[in-house]
Amino acid sequence: MALETTLLAVDDLKATYIHAITALDGVGFHLARGEILALLGANGAGKTTTLKALSNLLPAERGQVVSGSIRFDGLDVLRTSPAALVRAGLVQVLEGRHCFRSLTVEENLVSGGLGRSGTRAEIAEDIEKIYAHFPRLKEKRRALSGLTSGGEQQMTAIGRALMSRPRLLVLDEPSMGLAPLIVQDIFRKLRHLNREEGLSILVAEQNSAVALKYADRAIILENGATVLTGDAQDLRGRDDIKSFYLGQRAVAPSIPAVVG
Ligand SMILES: Nc1ncnc2c1ncn2[C@@H]1O[C@H](COP(=O)(O)OP(=O)(O)OP(=O)(O)O)[C@@H](O)[C@H]1O
Ligand SMILES: [Mg+2]
Repeated sequence: MALETTLLAVDDLKATYIHAITALDGVGFHLARGEILALLGANGAGKTTTLKALSNLLPAERGQVVSGSIRFDGLDVLRTSPAALVRAGLVQVLEGRHCFRSLTVEENLVSGGLGRSGTRAEIAEDIEKIYAHFPRLKEKRRALSGLTSGGEQQMTAIGRALMSRPRLLVLDEPSMGLAPLIVQDIFRKLRHLNREEGLSILVAEQNSAVALKYADRAIILENGATVLTGDAQDLRGRDDIKSFYLGQRAVAPSIPAVVG
């Protein structure tokens, strides 16, 4: 891959928690501008740790990158503060759809715009853009977030992240705890943002079926290391990856009925 098309480059990352527990031991991948990359892996494979490393959030969790490098658009991530990374366009939606439950949906969106020095008119304009992508949020704009559905809270969390005008949106398990139809809806919206606005997306998922359906490429982590990288469509056709790497049982081959 040509260097100038690379937005995010992660090379041979090793990370530990409390200087003792090895969580990552050889994670490497490149994300090209404009692509949707899925980060797959079973429980404990290292997805969340990788994402936290990308935003330089591991020190806050008593974790540390011990070797390897992360570059975002030329920036050395490990020497850049989390807030500066957001300003540079690397924005995360953390696991568990964090929004302020006692604020309205619209107040949550406004809060997402506070980190950058936008004028009131710019913030209002960005909110309207988000409502155009998520009409449901417009309907619920005056509702308290804590009283909205899980899907609406996930959309609010995504909308809040979009208020920082990301170039790379990073999401940790957006499907968690949501009904399949809502999950599809959220992934369709993400792909729309990708295709229409050129937003690059890195999404960690245990739900490999939906992630592979909407991503361009995927990487698979196992025990803190990258074990496979490939085109999402190719990986979709491979039942073995589910049983080998993702902790899910492959569908047993059906035995043809013997007609006697
Ligand atoms: N704060 C922490 N302190 C100590 N160990 C941790 C911490 N967070 C994660 N770990 C360990 O690091 C390893 C990777 O965990 P991580 O949360 O990154 O996996 P994951 O792929 O996101 O899993 P899941 O699908 O369950 O969210 C695991 O062995 C986990 O137990
Ligand atoms: Mg996780």
